[in-house]
Amino acid sequence: MTKTYKIAAIPGDGIGNEVVPAGLRVLEASARRHGFDLKVQSFDWSCERFARTGKMMPEDGLEQLKVFDSIYLGAVGYPGVPDHVSLWGLLIPIRRGFRQYINLRPIKLLAGIETPLKNRLPGEIDFYVVRENNEGEYSEIGGRLYAGTEMEMAMQQAIFTKIGCDRVMRYAFELARKRKKHVSSATKSNGIIHSMPFWDERFAAIGKEYPDIKTDQYHIDILTAHFVRHPDWFDVVVGSNLFGDILSDLGPAVVGSIGIAPGGNINPERDLPSMFEPVHGSAPDIAGRGIANPIGQIWSGAMMLEHFGESAAAQAVEQAITEVLAEGGTKTPDLGGNAGTKDMGAAIAAAIR
Ligand SMILES: NC(=O)c1ccc[n+]([C@@H]2O[C@H](COP(=O)([O-])OP(=O)(O)OC[C@H]3O[C@@H](n4cnc5c(N)ncnc54)[C@H](O)[C@@H]3O)[C@@H](O)[C@H]2O)c1
Repeated sequence: MTKTYKIAAIPGDGIGNEVVPAGLRVLEASARRHGFDLKVQSFDWSCERFARTGKMMPEDGLEQLKVFDSIYLGAVGYPGVPDHVSLWGLLIPIRRGFRQYINLRPIKLLAGIETPLKNRLPGEIDFYVVRENNEGEYSEIGGRLYAGTEMEMAMQQAIFTKIGCDRVMRYAFELARKRKKHVSSATKSNGIIHSMPFWDERFAAIGKEYPDIKTDQYHIDILTAHFVRHPDWFDVVVGSNLFGDILSDLGPAVVGSIGIAPGGNINPERDLPSMFEPVHGSAPDIAGRGIANPIGQIWSGAMMLEHFGESAAAQAVEQAITEVLAEGGTKTPDLGGNAGTKDMGAAIAAAIR
């Protein structure tokens, strides 16, 4: 019997509605080629829905998603709806509710993409940012006092648990073991004197479990500079929720357009669905024009296939992206061409082997 994967597609807002169909087209081409099926159900959960109903998703949203093998998300965010509504009304409940404690972002310079860095060749920049995705600086603990007075104050707690640190670090080490065997940790233990020394301690302890893996650590400030000056130094970089968030936008920026950068919110235990989404947002400035680059969405789909264990199909998608970019005939405007989202999706689907 043909294996079937059930996918919940949430295109969301803006260009999410344009890039998700292009992504599905490529994934379906690869699934056909590699002998499995995708059963896709689409959900209209978005800021538009929020404007209509006051909720980004229904009360039982997570229950509805639980039965799927994975979630394929476009982007959420719409002018007029505050960004914290879309983040805390949809993305964070899914990431936390489904224990997607890894946010994984590959940073890879591909042929055919211009990098803002001088003299860098494809192959020279190839690393992963592993971001802690469930705790750290993005906690709900805190509050305000004396609102509207001279004494007004705000307090926000960062949460670092041993379990939370250890599991994201182990994931980073396991990933490095399959690659160049090198993990770098993002820290700031000179300035943040409780949580970051704890992070460093856990990094040293987990590092001892992996004697075959080289380790180093950098304060986040100099690490951002190294991303620009020496991106070839890195293999796997692990960071807290906030540091990882910043690094995982900086990484794609140094290898070219934000339109090509993929991401995964991963539940490594696989007891609940993981969610794959491009790094970019809903791009209201170009939404509705059919010119968004779908590669970030398509590549996120390749990560989803890899997560299913369909490595050959995932590699076929990555290979098709690489070929189409290197060949250079089909490029969206962000890459200096004039192809549309659909053209790019069609070209990549046609290049699947
Ligand atoms: N995970 C998410 O859903 C997510 C992530 C980031 C931002 N957002 C939301 O998206 C909205 C817009 O945010 P923003 O403008 O800061 O970031 P953005 O990523 O949407 O856009 C930044 C710039 O990059 C361009 N761009 C982005 N994706 C592109 C693509 N695929 N092809 C070509 N060009 C592309 C846009 O046109 C824009 O000029 C906000 O509401 C924000 O909260 C959502």
